[in-house]
Amino acid sequence: MSPLIAPSILAADFANLQTEVEMLNRSAADYIHVDIMDGVFVPNISFGIPVTEAIQRHAKKPLDVHLMIVNPDPYLEAFRRAGAENISVHYEACPHLHRTVQAIHGLGAKAGVAINPHTSVSLLEEIIAEIDLVCMMSVNPGFGGQKFIENTYSKVSRLKDLILKKGAATKIEIDGGVNEQNAQKLVSEGADILVAGSFVFSSADPVATIARLKSS
Ligand code: DX5
Ligand code: ZN
Repeated sequence: MSPLIAPSILAADFANLQTEVEMLNRSAADYIHVDIMDGVFVPNISFGIPVTEAIQRHAKKPLDVHLMIVNPDPYLEAFRRAGAENISVHYEACPHLHRTVQAIHGLGAKAGVAINPHTSVSLLEEIIAEIDLVCMMSVNPGFGGQKFIENTYSKVSRLKDLILKKGAATKIEIDGGVNEQNAQKLVSEGADILVAGSFVFSSADPVATIARLKSS
């Protein structure tokens, strides 16, 4: 089955955001992945709510918002209002993860949990059936353009086993260093959604690159 593709706007030209979003509208992309970094949870700052709203004003694709921030709860509603269809929070940033997931669902959004490369999928055992997606980091979060971590393949297959064991419908999203070399193998291990930033936006023809990733 062909994966859903979520190009990461982090790799776009921020001075021409409208043009970049319109390009994604014309493409086979299924989502626009929006990376929010706070300089605390991750060692980088990207952008926040006003820029997400600006993206939404032009987007014809749903926004897949990835919150790399500590204490996300007070901001969930604002991101939902800014157009987030999926809201992913980090396992490592949420001491009351179940409550945070409930809050996301209470806003009518799909709830995702993102896990860092060192975080075992077994830690999701008690929450997996409650969430709509797992955003599995295949790089250390904070920057685009990093090298894919190979251990991700076996992690995807362990997560797929957990989802099947629990009879859950949770989708597996892979985020970081995704390209044409690893996409197919990720899909065969069980990935449903592929995030791709630099591979899409640094290519000569991003629309064609998205279409190729989709046929992985
Ligand atoms: C990393 C972000 C990713 C990033 C992916 O912290 O969460 O979504 O934008 O970019 P690439 O595809 O360049 O690794
Ligand atoms: Zn991301």
